[in-house]
Amino acid sequence: MSNYHIKHLEEYFQVYRKSVRDPEAFWEEIAEEHFVWRKKWDRVLRWDFKKPEVAWFEGARLNITENCLDRHLPVRGDKTAILFEPNDPSGEAQHITYKELHERVCRMANVLKEHGVKKGDRICIYLPMIPELAVAVLACARIGAIHSVVFAGFSSNALATRINDSDCKLVITSDGSYRGAKTLNLKSIVDTALEDCPGVDTVLVARRTGEEVAMKDGRDKWLQPLLDEAYADCVAEIMDAEDPLFILYTSGSTGKPKGMVHSCGGYMVYTAYTFKNIFQYREQDVYWCTADIGWITGHSYIVYGPLANGATTVMFEGVPSYPDYGRFWEVVEKHRVNQFYTAPTAIRALAKESLDYVEKYDLSSLKVLGSVGEPINEEAWHWYNNNIGRNKCPIVDTWWQTETGGIMISPIPFVTPTTPTFATLPFIGIQPALMDEEGNEIKGNQVSGRLCIKFPWPSMARTIWGNHDRYRDTYFSAYADKYFTGDGASRDAVGYYRITGRVDDVIIVSGHNLGTAPIEDSINEHPAVAESAIVGFPHDVKGNALYGFVILKETGESRNRENLHKEINQQITEQIGPIAKLDKIQFVPGLPKTRSGKIMRRILRKIAAGQTDDLGDISTLLNPEVVQEIIDQAEV
Ligand code: WT7
Repeated sequence: MSNYHIKHLEEYFQVYRKSVRDPEAFWEEIAEEHFVWRKKWDRVLRWDFKKPEVAWFEGARLNITENCLDRHLPVRGDKTAILFEPNDPSGEAQHITYKELHERVCRMANVLKEHGVKKGDRICIYLPMIPELAVAVLACARIGAIHSVVFAGFSSNALATRINDSDCKLVITSDGSYRGAKTLNLKSIVDTALEDCPGVDTVLVARRTGEEVAMKDGRDKWLQPLLDEAYADCVAEIMDAEDPLFILYTSGSTGKPKGMVHSCGGYMVYTAYTFKNIFQYREQDVYWCTADIGWITGHSYIVYGPLANGATTVMFEGVPSYPDYGRFWEVVEKHRVNQFYTAPTAIRALAKESLDYVEKYDLSSLKVLGSVGEPINEEAWHWYNNNIGRNKCPIVDTWWQTETGGIMISPIPFVTPTTPTFATLPFIGIQPALMDEEGNEIKGNQVSGRLCIKFPWPSMARTIWGNHDRYRDTYFSAYADKYFTGDGASRDAVGYYRITGRVDDVIIVSGHNLGTAPIEDSINEHPAVAESAIVGFPHDVKGNALYGFVILKETGESRNRENLHKEINQQITEQIGPIAKLDKIQFVPGLPKTRSGKIMRRILRKIAAGQTDDLGDISTLLNPEVVQEIIDQAEV
């Protein structure tokens, strides 16, 4: 039992060693003691990183919703499962108990079944942070349909790409959404997307804003009347442990977004186990993760991890700045939140505002603070620690990825002493390695390199939907027999890891993963643009912001630059979403390229950061003279 809930450092080292010495025995014990299986596995782990192929708990049968819902009914049926806090602070919070959630999930599952949805079908969910989102996710899991949640800030174009990539046949959306003082008409975004999605035959629409929307005959249906009529119980589909549970798209450094596929058994075991330990969750606690369920953080640590532990998980519809910058802290006080998990970009934005917004509220309920999505800088860490945690709440700086399914490197609060900006130690069962550029593992401490993982863990993504070759090429080909994360990291004198950031062409803006290629493609579609390259540059709130270097066609040269900047951003907003807009844009005569024609982003990154005295050797470039021209006109 004690292995499930680690309480001191000695125990961490002991359990860690056990998990590495005999991973199969270790995970078997966790899986056996803490979850409900319809049938136990024939084999705990089968793996081969060359193929690559990974299977956990093969032969086992289960349904994750029986673990997240049914098993809690006799013991905590009346406990709040989801605590919904609406965008409008004067609106009423909803306490949805395990019993009610079970019933709502069953009704939704039956509605899906009535529309012909079967095990293995892909369902796209494009909803704001309202209870229907969590209900829809679980309803898919209930019947074995594979959910693909698309963050409701993505444009119609991005939505259509994702729907088509995984052949979704049904979309669940809402009339609109509230985001602070704004409302967004989601249904019209879906309508535009579906003009390019011939495979979708049904759209179920939840009511949220009450605004007028177009409903296409035979395709679009209001959700609520269907739910009201549906039967309130639904037998769970029994799944194989390795059956896909969901697809979630993430940006790659090139090409279209990657549909990461997560499977039922291993994902459940690992997200539940990490949740319990990394937030030190106790039965009476109220836990709040401010992410959107449209990202992996929301999947694993708003929905599945907390519910598998019978936790009360807060779902927040709003934004940190509405009606003012005290909203997070108002909600913490109101619901007596014990664990609070957010992103560095939010912390930095709030740290810029007056401390009055914090001091007005009673934050004494807080026990553990979490950070995720990008490296947390020292200043933000101290602000969080001093003003929110009042120096008594450990900060868990949790490093992980959409691909890893769950937290990989993180302190365990009250167990691992923390150091600002360090994600500290690998979680139980995780075997990191730092690699040099020649492909050798760098042993020992006080070293840095590229972060890989040497051994499988239960919640790793199993493939990229429809493209297993790309899965192998992206994650398993850089270093033999290792999963390559795309991040750089260092290890200090005591073995703590510090994640230094991406080493590929992915840029993290406000904690969102953006690939350079799709943004450049979008810019290049502008009729005045010949070629472009984007890089990240340091930004005090967003962490990184985007800097675009754009070569104009001759016909574009006479155009007003300010208008062009606006048009290009407009185009990016339509094709990808507002998060990918460029903060700075510079029109340049050329881009620095290698003799083989590859854009030297390293140089552009330095220029964008204003570090031009340290460009390294540029003499081998195809066009070294262009570098000085770019520097002379740079916007820094
Ligand atoms: C990338 C993954 C994990 C859920 C949210 C993001 C960066 C994430 C940290 C952290 C430093 C971090 C990495 C990683 N990242 N957490 N605590 N410290 N960097 O998921 O969108 O898949 O992005 O986010 O660069 O590779 P994602």
